[in-house]
Amino acid sequence: MKGKVIGDILVIKENIDNPQNLLKTHGVKRIVKLGRINGLKREPDVELIHGEGTVTTHKENKCLFKLDVSKIMWSKGNTTERKRMSNIVQNGETVVDMFAGIGYFSIPIAVHSKPAKIYSTEINPVSYSYLCENVKLNHVEEIVKPIFGDCRIKAPKGIADRVLMGYIGNTNEYLDVAMDIIKKDGIIHYHESVPDKLKFIRPIERIQKAAKNIDREVEILNKRIIKPYSPGVFHVVVDAKIN
Ligand SMILES: C[S@@+](CC[C@H](N)C(=O)[O-])C[C@H]1O[C@@H](n2cnc3c(N)ncnc32)[C@H](O)[C@@H]1O
Repeated sequence: MKGKVIGDILVIKENIDNPQNLLKTHGVKRIVKLGRINGLKREPDVELIHGEGTVTTHKENKCLFKLDVSKIMWSKGNTTERKRMSNIVQNGETVVDMFAGIGYFSIPIAVHSKPAKIYSTEINPVSYSYLCENVKLNHVEEIVKPIFGDCRIKAPKGIADRVLMGYIGNTNEYLDVAMDIIKKDGIIHYHESVPDKLKFIRPIERIQKAAKNIDREVEILNKRIIKPYSPGVFHVVVDAKIN
């Protein structure tokens, strides 16, 4: 029976008939059943199978993430990428996390690296409230500045050594915003869900086109598959230096 443990909650996708077994096997106190993930704000349908409440605190890579699993996604498939981001930032950098969520990237970077500042924009009020809580929970108030709203409007422009575009869906529509945020020689981590035969070709072409629009050159530093997203489609990330 497939399931993932988030904090002290086992999240499952199938019907079960003996929750007691699962509670023991996974060492959890609660079980919820996860349905479809919906809309721009990525909110899942959820059914409480055992125990009270759906708010929990998940620990990963010495970081604490408080979230409500009935309202907010937690992708195990992004674990490696969260780890990679946590130690890629150089001392004193200014980072803009355009799609911050509850702090999936901003928190590990602030905990494990020494950036000067991280500006974390988030449009979903529920995710934003947990982002603010997680900044306190991990004692990184001096580094992470949560900003509520649309990154297109609210993200600080022309200041970033590094821009995180950790979103899949219509991320390419925000490349012009990223180009306004990034400083010369800054690095953009651009995420996209892309069909197998186009992976890396299309994301790189889109980055180059957006840079060309503002007369900037692109140097591709790295590209990796984060996880399979759906049949024949991959969640990929491209690290691009914008000269
Ligand atoms: C998939 S989640 C966070 C992913 C996280 N960066 C990661 O890869 O683990 C994407 C987040 O972007 C937020 N979002 C979507 N469009 C946005 C926008 N225009 N401005 C700011 N946040 C946005 C969503 O509400 C959601 O919390």
